[in-house]
Amino acid sequence: MLQRTHVVLSLVLGALLMVSAATGLVLSTGTLYEHFQVAPSAGQNVAEVVERIAGQVQGIERIERAPSGELRVIFSNATESDTVIADPVTGLVMGPYQPSVFLSWVRNLHRELLLGEPGRWLSGMAALALLILVVTGCWLLARRLGGWRQLLRPIPDRGGLLYWHLVLSRWTLPVLAILAVSGLYLAAISVGMVDDGQDVAPVYPAAGYSAPAAEIGSLPALRNLDLQDLRELEFPFDPLQANFYTLRTASGDGFVDASTGQWISYQEHGFTKRLYENLYELHTGAHSPIWTFFLAGASLCLLLLSGFGLLSWWHRKRMARVLSDNAPADQAQVILLVGSQGGTTWRYARQLHQQLSSNGLAVHCANMNQLQPHYPGAKQLLVLTSTYGDGQAPESASAFLGRLSLSKLGPELQVAVVGFGNSQFEHFCGYAQEVEHQLQQRGLRPLLPLHCIDRNALSELNQWARALGEKLRVDLHFTEQTPPETGQQLELLSRELFGEDSESPAAILRFGVKPLRRSYGLFLVRNPASRYAPGDLLSIRPGSDLAPRLYSIASSDEDGVLEVCVRKHPAGLCSPMLHGLQVGDCIEGVIQPHPEFRPSAGRHPVILVGAGTGLAPLIGFVRKNTHQRPLYLYWGGRNAQSDFLYQAQLNEYLADGRLTQLGLAFSQAAQPMYVQDRLQQDAGELVLLLKQGAQVLVCGSREMAEGVRLALKPMLQQLGLSIEQLRLQGRYREDVY
Ligand SMILES: Cc1cc2nc3c(=O)[nH]c(=O)nc-3n(C[C@H](O)[C@H](O)[C@H](O)COP(=O)(O)OP(=O)(O)OC[C@H]3O[C@@H](n4cnc5c(N)ncnc54)[C@H](O)[C@@H]3O)c2cc1C
Ligand SMILES: Cc1cc2nc3c(=O)[nH]c(=O)nc-3n(C[C@H](O)[C@H](O)[C@H](O)COP(=O)(O)O)c2cc1C
Repeated sequence: MLQRTHVVLSLVLGALLMVSAATGLVLSTGTLYEHFQVAPSAGQNVAEVVERIAGQVQGIERIERAPSGELRVIFSNATESDTVIADPVTGLVMGPYQPSVFLSWVRNLHRELLLGEPGRWLSGMAALALLILVVTGCWLLARRLGGWRQLLRPIPDRGGLLYWHLVLSRWTLPVLAILAVSGLYLAAISVGMVDDGQDVAPVYPAAGYSAPAAEIGSLPALRNLDLQDLRELEFPFDPLQANFYTLRTASGDGFVDASTGQWISYQEHGFTKRLYENLYELHTGAHSPIWTFFLAGASLCLLLLSGFGLLSWWHRKRMARVLSDNAPADQAQVILLVGSQGGTTWRYARQLHQQLSSNGLAVHCANMNQLQPHYPGAKQLLVLTSTYGDGQAPESASAFLGRLSLSKLGPELQVAVVGFGNSQFEHFCGYAQEVEHQLQQRGLRPLLPLHCIDRNALSELNQWARALGEKLRVDLHFTEQTPPETGQQLELLSRELFGEDSESPAAILRFGVKPLRRSYGLFLVRNPASRYAPGDLLSIRPGSDLAPRLYSIASSDEDGVLEVCVRKHPAGLCSPMLHGLQVGDCIEGVIQPHPEFRPSAGRHPVILVGAGTGLAPLIGFVRKNTHQRPLYLYWGGRNAQSDFLYQAQLNEYLADGRLTQLGLAFSQAAQPMYVQDRLQQDAGELVLLLKQGAQVLVCGSREMAEGVRLALKPMLQQLGLSIEQLRLQGRYREDVY
């Protein structure tokens, strides 16, 4: 409901909001420019400055102080009538006042869309829409980050428009809320719905103030008024009839006797007027350059947020269009929900949708995050989902379990879940298993048991298709799909070999990446996948019809090379092929982002634990630690003489502070030791680090990770914690194979 309100409102009033944001940006930039044009007038009193101006200009009617501090002098004498501007510090007349025609037009567009009264109502609606968007956006953000208390925690970088939408909105929501509330109030005033307190005026002087005027510079009321508090000073219209000044200040308005310089009457601003002044100030940043700067930033962000929002909506629409015959959710017989991050699962979902629909079934297909509370006409629910991270949900299913817990789905639906995963990962199809479990808990009846597909194996998938076909009495069959992303061209630039004499040596391989260019009509665009950071994965197929193997990347695209560290499995397919490469040879690979396996933002200590080639992403994190955040690296190898990967670099990073401490363990040393033993040796220090909020990242073999968990368990127990709790806090992450 919240999400729908957010999207519908953004779409309906998107154009209006974008006009408001763009004009707001121009206006605040204009105000900022004015602030920098005018020297600040600290400590000047009104009498002094006005006296100097009066010495240069005859027939002054009024002096206005603009919010930027600029003084505008309106005069009329026998020869001319005009407005000039005066320097607030020196009182010198600087020239004629020439307001920008463009800015006036933009202001008019911002306030009333150049439409007069109806435009003011529309602007008010834009402000109201912004307020609703801010509230629903805040709610959605809290929900996505796991609660209101988590609002400040780092947003998982999954790339894409949604990530930037979340990052930008988090920092701008408070300023946008202020802009929305103040904008709504000002719009309500402009259409006469709310009083601005202007009609509470000081008592007009009774007749009799016609004594000769004194020198203006000597008048006490003006001498006691700081120039910064002046709003407007009106000169007597006819000095012989009414010899008093009308004075408007920041705190109140009144009349000043021109001969004695005393207040004749004074009316302090009431609550309504002060409210108006403060909200006007908040909306325009008129008196504060710093606040104006924030407003300009917020307007720019609002423009970007509207743009990102519209683009993601268009993207979703395009996805939906690809599925012709997608039945509406409330009329479908079969619901097909898809959890995907890289898009592979969607390709199979489309095939399934097409075949079921062409057999006369009304099928509704959507992302898992779009789960509805209730499907009135549906009998079967099919869920196809991949798994990411440590058995986590893919992007398009991140909110599924939360929505499921609020839904009304029950035994009226039969369900079949298919997991798409990779058995190289510890939690093979871990998320699909969790989804299956939760659906069973809600009482949905099983249509088919959970089916896990390893690396998109077509034979396994068709086994499931046959079983489903029998249940639904249709003929179903999946065919191979060519992946949309073609790989990067990788040219081997250098290789370093370790443990050459052993059966399974390791090699550090550095590749040059040739950015693939895709064409979009007339445009050639750099493939975004050629961006990578330590911890991301390189996927390589040892043969065209073989499943890809993954390798952790140790470098980032900024380093100019793609570095991996590969252990040779003598009877394996991919690793011997990589070890056999010569400098200059080229292969194809696909870079897969893996933002879950990275130190989280902040200054908390990080404990890196790895063995063998598991060092690859860890050394990358150390290399990037130029801000010298406390980093503790524990690494286990076989032999200190022949198998010590990155030895020289590790010493260099220890010396320059990128690495705080290095703990080594060698299994073939005189006193054999594994990395988990080394952790136990430092238990005291590690407990202290964990107490300070340290994050633990583990990379390498499954057996090693198991040993590390066992070693950490008693340390965490001392702090009343467990590995699972640490995992939930995002402080324990594994990349094991
Ligand atoms: C997230 C992740 C990150 C990884 N990062 C790295 C990394 O940085 N560095 C690295 O070196 N590896 C890494 N791997 C492992 C890598 O993906 C491969 O699994 C590894 O290189 C072996 O691939 P292969 O093709 O050489 O062996 P495969 O052909 O996949 O064989 C795997 C093993 O099975 C054995 N085997 C194969 N066929 C048979 C058979 N018929 N009968 C019995 N045994 C058999 C082989 O001897 C071999 O030991 C990572 C894996 C994952 C999941
Ligand atoms: C960074 C990363 C993490 C992964 N983690 C897991 C995992 O924990 N368990 C698993 O079974 N598969 C894992 N996979 C494999 C994907 O689930 C699998 O490739 C799937 O087919 C991707 O489908 P999608 O493109 O639709 O998202 C991971 C893949 C990547 C790139």
